[in-house]
Amino acid sequence: MKSSTEAALAAMTYPRRILFVCLGNICRSPAAEGVMRKIVSEHHDDANWIIDSAGTGRYHIGDLPDRRMRAHAVRRDLHLTHICRQVRESDFDDFDLIVAMDANNERDLRDLAPTPEAQAKIVQMSEFVRDTFSRYDYIPDPYYEGAEGFELVLDLLQSGCAELYRMLSKR
Ligand code: 4NP
Repeated sequence: MKSSTEAALAAMTYPRRILFVCLGNICRSPAAEGVMRKIVSEHHDDANWIIDSAGTGRYHIGDLPDRRMRAHAVRRDLHLTHICRQVRESDFDDFDLIVAMDANNERDLRDLAPTPEAQAKIVQMSEFVRDTFSRYDYIPDPYYEGAEGFELVLDLLQSGCAELYRMLSKR
């Protein structure tokens, strides 16, 4: 893990305020939001967490998550109900950790971040992914992929969110 990521985690207070970000906000980031919410809820820890997601793009504002992502998620008992929205500058005040799914999302977030403090909140999801999936250095966009692309995203997110929870629930 990058030292800048460790610093971002160490700077977090309670409640934990996390925003997951991808391009469309209909596949990867709403799935990350759903996975994280489920982990937190299973630990009866909801009161300590504020979890949301947003997209750098504006193609799908107002939409539910992609129907394919919802179908794959339901098989893991994840019910994705997020309504798509675009990232806004105030997100850098409203959240303490902004988790990008890939390098393009990270670059777009860095273009938007108004201050050095805001920049310091931006990290990549792949930094938290463990074990058999740790070879992935980004969360691949499943939008133009088949079923295996969606399953892979959910596997990566379940690994990464479990690690994020482990690291942030013990401070
Ligand atoms: P996401 O996937 O970034 O994981 O939500 C995408 C969804 C839609 C588009 C691109 C990526 N799109 O271009 O419409």
